[in-house]
Amino acid sequence: MRLLVCGGAGFIGSTFARLRLLEHGDEVTVLDKLTYAGREENFHDFASAPGFRFLRGAIEDPEALAGAIAAAEPEAIVNFAAETHVDRSIAEPNAFVKTHALGTYVLLEAAREHGLRYLQVSTDEVYGSIEAGTFTEDSPLRPSPPYSATKTGADLLVQSYFHTYGLPATICRGSNNFGPHQYPEKLIPLMILNALHGDPLPVYGDGKQVRNWIHASDFARAIGCVLERGAAGEVYNAGGPDELANIDVVRRILELTDADESLIEHVTDRPGHDRRYSLSSSKVRALGWEPRVRFAEGLERTVEWYRENAWWWEPIRSGEYRAYYQRQYGRALS
Ligand code: NAD
Ligand code: TYD
Repeated sequence: MRLLVCGGAGFIGSTFARLRLLEHGDEVTVLDKLTYAGREENFHDFASAPGFRFLRGAIEDPEALAGAIAAAEPEAIVNFAAETHVDRSIAEPNAFVKTHALGTYVLLEAAREHGLRYLQVSTDEVYGSIEAGTFTEDSPLRPSPPYSATKTGADLLVQSYFHTYGLPATICRGSNNFGPHQYPEKLIPLMILNALHGDPLPVYGDGKQVRNWIHASDFARAIGCVLERGAAGEVYNAGGPDELANIDVVRRILELTDADESLIEHVTDRPGHDRRYSLSSSKVRALGWEPRVRFAEGLERTVEWYRENAWWWEPIRSGEYRAYYQRQYGRALS
């Protein structure tokens, strides 16, 4: 396939681009604005592979998009491009509205004009929090923070283009991802890097919030499966095989990094913090997908990757992220 992968310089988009290029032999053009979270370093191992092309541009910019479509001649657009951190959406929602609402609209219009298939990468956070049980694709959408609300808006717009114009669009909603190349504002890489540096590990509230973890390689495979075999107009959930409380994730990271429990610091809870996410994935499993990486093994490998790849995270920890950390946590990184 020839694919236009929007937001492909980020954590999951680059994992997907690598998979499609190297394992499926697809042609992959990445269009990415390179926000703080988008990095060409994420292509380091496949930037010169045949069939790969990177173009810098924003999805909400119709000219940049037209140029990318002309260069890639894609059969499908896969959209990962997003602002993705809940805490940043609480502090500054502006970019979330722009990228998720306007950006998705510009992509959908282009897909309609050029007769392209469209896949929207989405999240379990559109369903909101669930105390017990698990969300199916038919569960009501009750997003909590601006991140989730604007992602929900984008999903609804995608569905409207299927219902109104017959655009062959699908949506794939993933649970919390982890793995190599994840920007360290997110729980797992933040805790790994803080533990390796002897910085305190800031656990929000009681730390008993539960997340349903999926390895990014498994989510990338689920997206590929939906792209190949999903029915137009349908939503597919892709949840990982394991659910854990944050505090248990943090304790395991301390063990794997040989750091001391005394580094744990319970800090003020996130406003409106969702207590638990849990996804049922039977619909995508019926298409032939199943997760391959269990959390315990994936976490061990992820810690190893951050230990061995300081070249990747050192520029982040000494750049924009330092200032963000100071603003968000009220203290400096060591
Ligand atoms: P990320 O923050 O690592 O990467 C986002 C990428 O999008 C970056 O490369 C950034 O430069 C790019 N981008 C942002 N705004 C853009 C714009 N206007 N135009 C072009 N590019 C833009 O995020 P991620 O964790 O890789 O998430 C990718 C997608 O998966 C998102 O849509 C997210 O909502 C979804 N998702 C993430 C998770 C998770 O746990 N990380 C779980 C489920 C779904
Ligand atoms: P995060 O990685 O931001 O993902 P999401 O909010 O999309 O689930 O956070 C995962 C969980 O970890 C969430 O319950 C918030 C919590 N958390 C902390 O306790 N401390 C932190 O410093 C961060 C970033 C997250």
